[in-house]
Amino acid sequence: MRAKEKAKPVSRAALAGEADPRLVALSVSIQDDGALYAEDIRGSQAHVTMLAAQGIVPKAVARRVVAALDQVRAEFAAGKIRFDPALEDVHTHVERRLGELVGKDAGYLHAGRSRNDQVALDERLFVVAACERADAALARLQRALVRRGREHQATILPGYTHLQRAQPVSLAHHLLAHVEAFGRDRQRVSEVRARAAISPLGSGALAGTTLPLDREATARALGLAGVTQNSLDAVSDRDSAIELLFACALAAVHLSRIGEEIVLWTTKEFGFMTLSDAFATGSSLMPQKKNPDVGELARGRAGRAIGDLVALLATVKNLPLSYNRDLQEDKRPLLGAADAVVLTADAIAGAIDTATFHAARMEEALGGGEALATDAAEYLVERGVPFREAHEAVGKVAAFATAHGRPLAKLDPAEWRSFHPRFEKDVLRCFDARRSLRRRDLPGAPAPRQVARQLARWEKALREPGR
Ligand code: ARG
Repeated sequence: MRAKEKAKPVSRAALAGEADPRLVALSVSIQDDGALYAEDIRGSQAHVTMLAAQGIVPKAVARRVVAALDQVRAEFAAGKIRFDPALEDVHTHVERRLGELVGKDAGYLHAGRSRNDQVALDERLFVVAACERADAALARLQRALVRRGREHQATILPGYTHLQRAQPVSLAHHLLAHVEAFGRDRQRVSEVRARAAISPLGSGALAGTTLPLDREATARALGLAGVTQNSLDAVSDRDSAIELLFACALAAVHLSRIGEEIVLWTTKEFGFMTLSDAFATGSSLMPQKKNPDVGELARGRAGRAIGDLVALLATVKNLPLSYNRDLQEDKRPLLGAADAVVLTADAIAGAIDTATFHAARMEEALGGGEALATDAAEYLVERGVPFREAHEAVGKVAAFATAHGRPLAKLDPAEWRSFHPRFEKDVLRCFDARRSLRRRDLPGAPAPRQVARQLARWEKALREPGR
């Protein structure tokens, strides 16, 4: 029985792509991984060129294959490649078309290579390019924020904690806060890019090859910084994809936060901001509506970004070494992630660039001095009072003001003194919001001098090369 099973030939139907249609329907991935054709072809051209240099493939064959692959790329780009479910994925589609163009020379290409190291390479090349696209879009958004910040250094508004008015900041300081977050996103993306830019080619299906490949040469030809160091790991590792998805998810979360502020700030209740007509939408029913869909979509996209990250983590979880077909499921989450960040960041940048900020309304929201209560407490600290005691005294003043329906800034010095003997006439100076801002002059704080420094730092960092 055992011997009989051993002797049974490999199913010819499976090799010839004549599998049961139900299996074919489940296996096919060209509708997703077709997007990797350019990376796939670049990798194949580098591989066959190296095979020729190593004497594994005749040089003339390699030249013909490289030229024909250029044509396949052009046909893919023009949408001229007919997708055939029986061919499963992008690798076999490219190989089949190559075969049609150069006949049996196409058969030389796959020496020393498996679809397992091939797809790992394609994805690494894709991640590298995706990182560059995401970085460029986030930089465009940062530039928009910095531009509007430079215009609004003197615009003041309450900074919020718990969505309650807390202390004054400038609009420039507020916009620069988002610039910082996107700066971290860009750092992350560049680190992801650096780790992705390593070639797995030569790892074969899982255990390398007996052929004398020059892995370093292929990596160099592809602009990659080195080669992977363990063939089993190389074909089963999806860290670059996962890291890209994390970087994109976090960027999307940051975009959702600025999106939420656009939604809040454009309400009648806040009235801090009006979107330009080009970045607002109307209601199909209510003629008076001007909707901040741009901010809502930024919030919504973040949900998908987080889902994609979790989907890929779940796919990779528990997989034994090395390649497993589960990994094919990485395409859906991977392929759209960076583009979603690009779309969202560009739309938010446009909205910010063209919005009107209502400075008077923002200043009005500072209220009758409540946002400057801390300054009054620090006034006492400067006069030797322990902070807790100062905090308590000002708390009582604030409660008194509220109880009498009077703004804090409108109490008179005698009233202040009744709550603490150290209060003098000049306590009222605390209620000049611009003075308060000027005095918040530590690094990272909202004093105009500090904000000007940050603006200059970012303007320099964001200067486009050649401009
Ligand atoms: N389409 C496959 C994927 O993306 C390529 C690798 C297939 N390898 C295999 N041994 N069937 O994972």
